[in-house]
Amino acid sequence: MSPTDFRRLAVLAGTVALAAWGCTEKIAPPTGPAPTRFVTPDSIQSVFTNTCIVCHDGPTPPAGLNLSADSSYAHLIGVVSFNCSADLGTPINRVQPGVADSSCLYIAITVGLQSLGGETMPLGGPPLSQPTIDRIRNWITNGAPATEVPL
Ligand code: HEC
Repeated sequence: MSPTDFRRLAVLAGTVALAAWGCTEKIAPPTGPAPTRFVTPDSIQSVFTNTCIVCHDGPTPPAGLNLSADSSYAHLIGVVSFNCSADLGTPINRVQPGVADSSCLYIAITVGLQSLGGETMPLGGPPLSQPTIDRIRNWITNGAPATEVPL
């Protein structure tokens, strides 16, 4: 590439960058109420982040369940489970707000998944501590909101 070509390319790149910047600047602010972002509260998400996302992350996580901070809420609440539904022969949700015992998340960390030979989550690791299990149960029992619930 000659120096002239290079200069032309640089000018072109600058123009494209400016154009892109200009577009971003011109976007009208959204009208109406700010969209609400539903995320798992920190006291629960920290458990997933510390013990689960070593497996449950990325584009093809086990059972399609991504437990990273950006995805966990949307992947859990009111979403039909694969393993528990197969185990029980009837569709049950990963998290059924209000009913821990009918939530695959809770079953997975306590009773275990029959389809995995009764293994509890985290798979292959020590079970979650009782206070952590109680915290998750309490969150589900209180409707599994996107906000903290008192213990
Ligand atoms: C070592 C890897 C590993 C870790 C760590 C792990 N899991 Fe899993 N998990 C799996 C596998 C494998 C499956 C079953 C996938 C399948 O059968 O298709 C599974 C399935 C599940 C399911 C069933 C989902 C469904 O729709 O059927 C839940 C719920 C679950 N895990 C929760 C957790 C939680 C909560 C943690 C952390 C406390 C955790 N897992 C940690 C590997 C892991």
